[in-house]
Amino acid sequence: MPVSFATFDRLKTKGVGAYKNGDYAAAKSYLVEAAECMVELAESAESAEVRRQREEIAAELIDLARDCDRLKSAPPRRRQAVREKDDDSGRDASEWVVREKPTFGFDDIAGLEDVKQEIRLKMIYPFAHPELAKQYGIPVGGGVLLYGPPGTGKTMMAKAVAKELEAVFYLISPAQILSKWVGEAEQNIKKLFDAAKADSKSIIFIDEVEALVPRRQSDGSTVMQRVVPQILQELEGFDRATDRALLFMGATNKPWLLDEAMLRPGRLDTRVYIGLPDAPARFKLLEIYLGGRPLAADVDFGALCDRLEGYSGADIKSIAQQAAAIPFMESVGGAEPRPIAMADLLKVIQANPPSVKPSDLVRFEKFMESGR
Ligand SMILES: Nc1ncnc2c1ncn2[C@@H]1O[C@H](COP(=O)(O)OP(=O)(O)O)[C@@H](O)[C@H]1O
Ligand SMILES: [Mg+2]
Repeated sequence: MPVSFATFDRLKTKGVGAYKNGDYAAAKSYLVEAAECMVELAESAESAEVRRQREEIAAELIDLARDCDRLKSAPPRRRQAVREKDDDSGRDASEWVVREKPTFGFDDIAGLEDVKQEIRLKMIYPFAHPELAKQYGIPVGGGVLLYGPPGTGKTMMAKAVAKELEAVFYLISPAQILSKWVGEAEQNIKKLFDAAKADSKSIIFIDEVEALVPRRQSDGSTVMQRVVPQILQELEGFDRATDRALLFMGATNKPWLLDEAMLRPGRLDTRVYIGLPDAPARFKLLEIYLGGRPLAADVDFGALCDRLEGYSGADIKSIAQQAAAIPFMESVGGAEPRPIAMADLLKVIQANPPSVKPSDLVRFEKFMESGR
């Protein structure tokens, strides 16, 4: 009988529950079973993309199961720390706004050196040295739109900027505004901007901003028709409050869907393209996502780097996880543990074409040229 999502869900819920309760032995066996279920579901996926998503879920569960082995043998203090990390203390009352302290900076992001430099010049230095900026008449804060194909590190980059600036970071999820907060969107936006005004340096980041700001004519949603003008109005109010610095950031995979009003001066007017990783960035990605795992002597990062041209950062992370899952599953099944071999990696790469197609990039080039 084919496995069902219900079975997967039950196993995963049990596994995650046991993990949170510190019962790592039980957690591991449920998580491995859930992962096996998901691998089967991946095999019956209706498209390559869905298959890849399911494989990634399986790989994450395996990572978590592997964590269980480590935690089982760790002293109890460590377990405590894990549980603390899981709680929601960073959440604002208005759920879709998360006041968080990002933990990674520019050094944790592979490549994108020109992007980092552009952000430093335009946003970080004026923002970090407001007095100097004032003397020289350099604008402080403002709006930045990060755009580019999916999985290239846009969300990561926004969080890293907050870390670099040591600014308070407000993360808005449009999906949650749409699903839960429809009736309260206006109050919540007001609350958000009021909070940001009370901080000396803050960043408001709207991820997948195209979901929040569809082009007006194409979307009849009334909540959006009220929310977009309100955000724009709040932003304008902010420009006049000279004593506080606000960086307004948005990220999108589909910049051409944005409302033109959102892109006008004073709004998301600085645009930064985040593209696929170049060769040095791919090398760094391999170091980040494979470096900490046991590797066989034949694993050749240079060759992998060439083979991974056209792959995004998220693709490379997923490939590393899936490759690690191969010897892991074997050893869970009773085999002698062995390191990840080049053949494991090549097999996974073979089965996973790049998620971004060259034809997708053409659309971005057009946007870069025409702004549409
Ligand atoms: N340049 C990069 N450096 C390090 N990790 C990356 C990079 N790009 C993508 N990743 C990995 O892929 C995941 C997805 O990236 P994300 O920032 O969500 O992409 P985007 O927002 O552009 O769709 C990240 O959490 C990270 O683990
Ligand atoms: Mg993202």
